[in-house]
Amino acid sequence: MVYSPYFLYGAEKDMNNGLIDGKHYFDPAVNFPIHLSNDCYITRLVERDASELFNVVNSCRAYLERWLPWVKTCLMEHDSLVFIQKAQEKLRNSESIILSLRCADKIIGIISILKLNFIELSAEIGYWISEEYQGRGIVTSACRHLIDHICFSNLGLSKIIITCDFGNEKSAAIPRRLGFTEKARERNADTAQFELVKMTCE
Ligand SMILES: CC(C)(COP(=O)(O)OP(=O)(O)OC[C@H]1O[C@@H](n2cnc3c(N)ncnc32)[C@H](O)[C@@H]1OP(=O)(O)O)[C@@H](O)C(=O)NCCC(=O)NCCS
Repeated sequence: MVYSPYFLYGAEKDMNNGLIDGKHYFDPAVNFPIHLSNDCYITRLVERDASELFNVVNSCRAYLERWLPWVKTCLMEHDSLVFIQKAQEKLRNSESIILSLRCADKIIGIISILKLNFIELSAEIGYWISEEYQGRGIVTSACRHLIDHICFSNLGLSKIIITCDFGNEKSAAIPRRLGFTEKARERNADTAQFELVKMTCE
């Protein structure tokens, strides 16, 4: 069965006891927050997060800008608000699920399931974490949780892709640590692509 991420993400008000057209779409096991440790978790991103999100980006602009081109155009709180609104629209269209990473209730980064493809049963994962919180294994753990609990179990996907620029070794280390396979470098490509295919039992 193919699930709609809109229901997964928490459109509880639209749910009728978890049943849509008589089918059980919502798995309470992935109710947010998803805890990664005692004080770190993944949860929804909502419009009232715009100010906090902008402040995080603004606090480590040079560090993020090196690998994330959008940071240059994120210049005021309104830009973060527009990002969140677009994320909500993409969620409604089942295109992507964009979530916040939090520690001690503070936003510390973003982790997303992007390019959802329910025909090929694939998606990409993207992430960033504030400079202060990198180097603690939080993003690796967040990816592991999203892949196992949402991508494979709940969305029924079978292939996860992580793409990063060549040279972004800290990013590439994440799929490597999670057992992804690096795809052969395409000619003139400036990105590395990693794939994880769900193992199926015969
Ligand atoms: C890419 C990025 C998300 C990687 O962050 P990160 O903190 O290195 O990733 P993790 O949270 O998985 O942490 C891994 C680090 O924690 C360490 N670590 C500590 N405990 C760990 C644990 N239990 N499990 C895994 N790693 C652990 C690892 O050794 C590693 O440290 P190292 O880089 O010194 O070897 C981060 O550098 C970032 O946001 N960069 C800017 C934006 C960006 O490049 N985004 C990706 C675009 S494709």
